[in-house]
Amino acid sequence: MIEHSQDKLLFTPGPLTTSPSVKQAMLHDAGSWHFEFAQVVKTIREGLLRVAGVGEDYAAVLLQGSGTYGVEAVLGSAIPAQGKALIVVNGAYGERMAKTAAVLQIPHEVFRCAESATPDPAALDSILRANPALTHVAMVHCETTTGILNPIEPIGRLVAEHHRVFIVDAMSSFGAVPIDARGLPVDFLISSANKGLEGVPGFCFVIAPRHRLLECEGRARSLSLDLFAQWQGFEKNGQFRFTPPTHALLAFAQALREFEAEGGVPARGARYAANHATLLKAMGELGFKPFLPAACQSYIITAFGYPVAPSFHFPDFYRQLSDRGMIIYPGKLTQLDTFRIGTIGRLFPEDLVRLAHAVEDSLQAMGCPVPVTPGVTG
Ligand SMILES: Cc1ncc(COP(=O)(O)O)c(C=O)c1O
Repeated sequence: MIEHSQDKLLFTPGPLTTSPSVKQAMLHDAGSWHFEFAQVVKTIREGLLRVAGVGEDYAAVLLQGSGTYGVEAVLGSAIPAQGKALIVVNGAYGERMAKTAAVLQIPHEVFRCAESATPDPAALDSILRANPALTHVAMVHCETTTGILNPIEPIGRLVAEHHRVFIVDAMSSFGAVPIDARGLPVDFLISSANKGLEGVPGFCFVIAPRHRLLECEGRARSLSLDLFAQWQGFEKNGQFRFTPPTHALLAFAQALREFEAEGGVPARGARYAANHATLLKAMGELGFKPFLPAACQSYIITAFGYPVAPSFHFPDFYRQLSDRGMIIYPGKLTQLDTFRIGTIGRLFPEDLVRLAHAVEDSLQAMGCPVPVTPGVTG
């Protein structure tokens, strides 16, 4: 039997802390071609459409691998040889999309914005007007680099007005932040199992209208990351084309049940928002300030500048917190020294209070004055 109580709490945006019952659900060997397992896959695909608030004219395509595989599958399968993508970048995951497009030799332009600012829809409007060759627009919803929440609503409407295809990396926001996939519309929405739906790593998924998936036929630049072929596999016999991560899927089926029992996106989003508010208050009392302005800060993950103190060294701080049973995330900003605290996963406000106590104890153990002098904010 697993000793769940020995697991450290993960204040990270995935893999994240999961419930004991999600971990328990993995303790089975499932035959990947067996009809009971096919039923699990079917239930998951239907459940994902419910989370997205869409119906039978959409499909959920599951894909082995982490979130990056899903993004690569979409970019590599959706954009035709004669197409061209505009990739909106304001953080590391937007940069990764641009890099993916470059590696796959997909014609693309990059619309790069500051890491602390959301993309300006008016600027995007001008770019689309001036560049009729652009066929697709790809952007990250919650840029987990900083926790910034990009405005997919006005941008999605704009992209639709310009009759371009809209690709959204909703990795860390899906299930946690309401997304009107049909209304915007989002043509390809990508996320993964170990984020807001609180499963374990092992697969990602793409939710798209069937007519968009049909357009992907023959476009893929990869065999295993062929979104159309993967979808057709499910349509044909309900199976993954290649060996599925059976244990991760069993865990995810349980995670989805728990997600629906909690009350779906509104309830999960409310819990994460309460976690985030508790974190900001408690860290604020210790002198920390978030990197982002409140207006664009999500409740998924928050970046804080290092405190200004000669004895503050992030590796020591990380180790001190780990010794106290808490795992945080290093920063990912290009210019500033930050660390990040995630507020998603099986966490509750009281866990954030405990984390802030551990932060205070750790700083004191390192000889850093508390309250801290905050580092530069964005
Ligand atoms: C917004 C976003 N996109 C892409 C990824 C890449 O996902 P993975 O690390 O699962 O490949 C992440 C990971 O956290 C993410 O937050």
